[in-house]
Amino acid sequence: MSTGEPSGGPVLRLGPETHLLVTGGAGFIGSCFVREVLARRDGTRITVLDKLTYAGSEENLAPVRADPEQAARFRFVRGDIADPEAVRPLVAEADAVLNFAAESHVDRSILDPEAFLRTGVIGVHVLLEACRGEYERAAAGERGRPPRFLQVSTDEVYGSIEVGVATEETPLAPRSPYAAAKAAGELLVRAYHVTYGLDVVITRGANTYGPYQHPEKLIPLFLTNALESEPLPLYGDGLQRRDWLYVTDHAGAIEHVLRFGEPGGIYNLPGSGERTNREVVAALLDLLERPWSLVRSVPDRPGHDRRYAMDGARLAALGWRNRVSFEEGLRRTVDWFRANEAWWRAMRSGDWAAYYERQYGARLAAGRPVEPPVEEPVGPMGRAKAAGGSGPRGGSAEGDVPGGR
Ligand SMILES: NC(=O)c1ccc[n+]([C@@H]2O[C@H](COP(=O)([O-])OP(=O)(O)OC[C@H]3O[C@@H](n4cnc5c(N)ncnc54)[C@H](O)[C@@H]3O)[C@@H](O)[C@H]2O)c1
Repeated sequence: MSTGEPSGGPVLRLGPETHLLVTGGAGFIGSCFVREVLARRDGTRITVLDKLTYAGSEENLAPVRADPEQAARFRFVRGDIADPEAVRPLVAEADAVLNFAAESHVDRSILDPEAFLRTGVIGVHVLLEACRGEYERAAAGERGRPPRFLQVSTDEVYGSIEVGVATEETPLAPRSPYAAAKAAGELLVRAYHVTYGLDVVITRGANTYGPYQHPEKLIPLFLTNALESEPLPLYGDGLQRRDWLYVTDHAGAIEHVLRFGEPGGIYNLPGSGERTNREVVAALLDLLERPWSLVRSVPDRPGHDRRYAMDGARLAALGWRNRVSFEEGLRRTVDWFRANEAWWRAMRSGDWAAYYERQYGARLAAGRPVEPPVEEPVGPMGRAKAAGGSGPRGGSAEGDVPGGR
């Protein structure tokens, strides 16, 4: 998946000798990583450890199971990263541990923060302790090189960036329980590097979207609501800005950092197009040919960060470039959700109705219509049009993306 290789060569080689432990590998981004790596057929073996919370689904790994060659290099274990008994034996046989596991939805972290801390802090601690044990085994000659640890973190640890961009040196200022748990988790990872000499790398990914994303998140929520002709609950004025990262670019950048990242290194993974939420909704409705009148402005999320933006020079220097533009990524996402209705209907079952009512019931009752956006500048990728217009149709399919800083 990488597009360039630093001259020093990889720190970690993938291939028949390599066994990866991927925690949270039944979720949105983790399952994409697993599907992409195994589909390359380079011999790499992967064990997924996943608790299968409401957000995880073995269905996300069905393409792997359906392919005998990939299935032979894959194992699924249901378990909790905060459970040392489950974690230790899996870390013992891994050449690298990639921690995608997290409670990942900011709104749920505001309703009920505790699970975020259990997985995001205690879970990370348990994984790091298991890795530390492997350093002791390696020192005693009981195994070869101990595992490399990659922590999947987020741009939300920087808090709201009103102007400019956050570099990896920008102080952390998380503003939601989700972001605070992610910041705490990565600080632990850094501390284990400094204190115990563990080989760790940390990635801070931008807002991600694409196939298999749980419909509670902005793009799949609006997409599936629009397909159902249900109202789209847009928080506040809808002018919050995000730099959108297509899921295969996020997974690819993680793999690149796993292979080439400097021990102890932290890497921003920016997206390929900064957009306001209104612009995202307009582009979606345009692709779906649904009217703007579905959009309702609803009371905002408390402490809602206005803007995330990161500098990607360090990742670029490591040789990675994003490949999928926002326009192309959104088109692929819409196509996938249209073709996989059974998948998203299953995700919108169970506790979905109760969650939706708790999160949006009162908000929608207080909601009001929103004026469609007139043309607004959207940064380096061009301009978006109001719903009903021709919308963003251009954009390159593959190849370096200008916004992929
Ligand atoms: N989605 C984004 O926009 C985004 C952006 C940047 C970083 N991230 C980070 O990427 C990672 C993956 O995010 P996602 O969007 O794929 O999330 P997701 O919610 O789709 O998947 C999380 C997975 O972790 C599993 N899990 C949760 N708690 C667990 C535990 N205690 N033990 C084992 N498994 C557990 C869930 O069952 C699920 O399969 C997270 O660490 C998240 O913080 C996400």
